[in-house]
Amino acid sequence: TKRKIFLGIETSCDDTAVALIDAEEKSVLKHCIHQQIEHQSFGGVVPDLAFKGHAKHLPNLLNTLLKSACVDKEEIEGIGVTAGPGLAGGLLVGVMFAKGVSIALKKPLWAINHLQAHALVARLCCDLEFPYLALLFSGGHCEFVVVYSATEFYLLGYGLDDAAGECLDKVGRRLGFSFPAGAAIEVAAKMGDPLSVPLPIPMRDKSLNFSFSGLKSAALRWINAEGEKKLSFEKKANLCASLQYAIGQGIQKKIENFFDNLPSKSNPRVAVFCGGVAANQYLRNVLEECFLQYDVRLFTPPPKFCTDNGMMIAWNAYEKYRAGILPSMNFSIRARWPI
Ligand code: KG4
Ligand code: ZN
Repeated sequence: TKRKIFLGIETSCDDTAVALIDAEEKSVLKHCIHQQIEHQSFGGVVPDLAFKGHAKHLPNLLNTLLKSACVDKEEIEGIGVTAGPGLAGGLLVGVMFAKGVSIALKKPLWAINHLQAHALVARLCCDLEFPYLALLFSGGHCEFVVVYSATEFYLLGYGLDDAAGECLDKVGRRLGFSFPAGAAIEVAAKMGDPLSVPLPIPMRDKSLNFSFSGLKSAALRWINAEGEKKLSFEKKANLCASLQYAIGQGIQKKIENFFDNLPSKSNPRVAVFCGGVAANQYLRNVLEECFLQYDVRLFTPPPKFCTDNGMMIAWNAYEKYRAGILPSMNFSIRARWPI
């Protein structure tokens, strides 16, 4: 039988990522990521550097991908490219490149929403039927959504200020961790005591919206009071553990709010934890236990599917193809594009 091979191209932030998947087999043939390390010393993504990095690396990355996956270009069934939300320069590079590839290979192209791709990729990793709840936490976004289908998303709550990943990255920076700091914070937290640093549990209100800037400020104030230069590793580890704990408690409160206000019959059976922050094993455990109290199973994709990648973009193109959405060359980037 013929393989259904989809190509995904992702350039919305600082990672240049491409992937080839065999969609009907739900298997990843190959995925490649070029992580731009030039941002590390700036403690955040520098848009102009990101733009140049994508333009420099994307063509070679695609070549490497095709060669190492042993896929003939003719075999590709369709292409997905991130059209937003994200940094305009990077999005432009990805979209212009993808349109070129689409024309050259005469293969259909779909514009993909990066947030939808994060929320759908769990269906590539496991057998998961619609509808489901999705909790999406990345470097720039916090979203609480119901995923009704590959094309219908209902937004329950969103981030009002700093995203969870942003909070981790900014605190991590002050602790001397390189950007992005989420993974380093998780490692340090393993050696710390989550109840040692008194941080406020964020978002005690009844809404389903997220806010992490207060928690970030409290953590930064603690660092200032202790003296940034004098922090021992033990103290850093304690702060990291306490920060993770507070984020977990805050998200848990939102899940409780959701179920408190739910008519009992409409209880969803499945939830998905996704976006870069979902790579965090501690938070995965906290959320899984929380959902279990409501008889809801939590799926969390393996970490490499949570952080930005091309697989989720390829998968979303396939979801659109399957849903009968027509491909089109006639689209522009959308730096701001709600889920
Ligand atoms: O989805 P993503 O790769 O890119 C965006 O779309 O923003 O998310 C990146 C975010 C960063 O803030 C990073 O620090 C965080 O995900 N992150 C983590 C972990 N790995 C990445 N946060 C907590 N624990 C991790 N293991
Ligand atoms: Zn992302």
